[in-house]
Amino acid sequence: MSSLMSSPAAWFVIVMSVANMLACLWLIWWTARRRTANTESNTTGHSWDGIEEYNNPLPRWWLWLFILTILFGFIYLSLYPGLGNYAGTRGWTSSAQLAQEQAQTQAVFEARYGQFAKMDLVSLSKNAEAMSAARNLFANNCAACHGADARGNSGFPNLTDNDWLWGGNPETIYETIAHGRKGVMPGWVAILGKQGVEEVSAYVLSLSGRKVPEEWIEPGKQRFATICVACHGVDARGNQAVGAPNLTDKVWLYGSSMNVLRETVTNGRSNEMPAHLPLLGETKVRLLAAYVYGLSHP
Ligand code: HEC
Ligand code: HEC
Repeated sequence: MSSLMSSPAAWFVIVMSVANMLACLWLIWWTARRRTANTESNTTGHSWDGIEEYNNPLPRWWLWLFILTILFGFIYLSLYPGLGNYAGTRGWTSSAQLAQEQAQTQAVFEARYGQFAKMDLVSLSKNAEAMSAARNLFANNCAACHGADARGNSGFPNLTDNDWLWGGNPETIYETIAHGRKGVMPGWVAILGKQGVEEVSAYVLSLSGRKVPEEWIEPGKQRFATICVACHGVDARGNQAVGAPNLTDKVWLYGSSMNVLRETVTNGRSNEMPAHLPLLGETKVRLLAAYVYGLSHP
């Protein structure tokens, strides 16, 4: 709160709130005392359709309720943040409470699943109890990007096949989930020109058996050998050290149309798998790594 509010604004809120509460007290006191004892019948003199307005004092309990409410307000505002940037004597903050509740849930999870963190990932992937927890973790933390069935989508890799950008052994999968990955492919139109992009894209498509204009394949191959080999390898089978995909199979991260390839080679791609260790902690990341490994090793 304090960081959001400048000092003059904070003082404005403090002064206005306290003045309002004091004014309410005063109003109660004032109306409770004021009497127009000028008529014997104790009416205000207002009468409409035979109904007269009496000038009786408020019932005591009602009056006390008002006063107690205002007192409660003062006590509350002295204990908790609410007045401008005043933090309250108890030092309570919503973020600290959230952190505490999260720590509690984490502790409950650790108590139940902590034992699994010590198992190796392959045995873990065969443990039914652990994997049923991991399925929920996947649905909550990964499905938004990789899909509920983990089959991915354009730009988000399928995790159920045996085709890996970064590697599919259990430890590598753990690394990917824990620390994240950045897949960066630069754009090449400045170097290749428009025609060069056509040729090299056609060549890449021909590698997985697609029909493309015959005369583009040879020049495309030569361009590939000067630029693309650096990451995708001489055989175009990719390089898991830099997350460069295999271009000879029929598995595509972005799609297999000439349009999509042209777009990739022209402007490049930049893709990120966020690091999950800071969010989820060791036990959950190990459960998820085992789960993902199990998807392609049933
Ligand atoms: C914000 C979207 C997003 C979320 C959430 C996300 N991922 Fe990813 N993930 C990606 C992207 C994008 C890639 C591809 C990175 C690249 O292109 O190199 C990826 C890559 C991966 C890979 C590597 C696949 C390979 O072929 O090497 C694994 C494994 C993976 N994610 C698992 C997970 C798990 C498990 C979770 C849940 C804890 C998760 N991801 C959550 C976006 C996400
Ligand atoms: C600096 C390394 C690097 C170079 C050089 C490079 N690429 Fe890539 N390429 C990548 C990476 C990394 C990805 C994955 C991007 C991602 O994760 O989103 C990729 C992805 C691709 C894709 C998308 C594949 C799919 O499954 O959708 C194509 C097509 C491609 N590159 C073709 C080329 C061609 C053609 C060249 C040469 C003109 C080239 N690349 C040069 C690193 C490189």
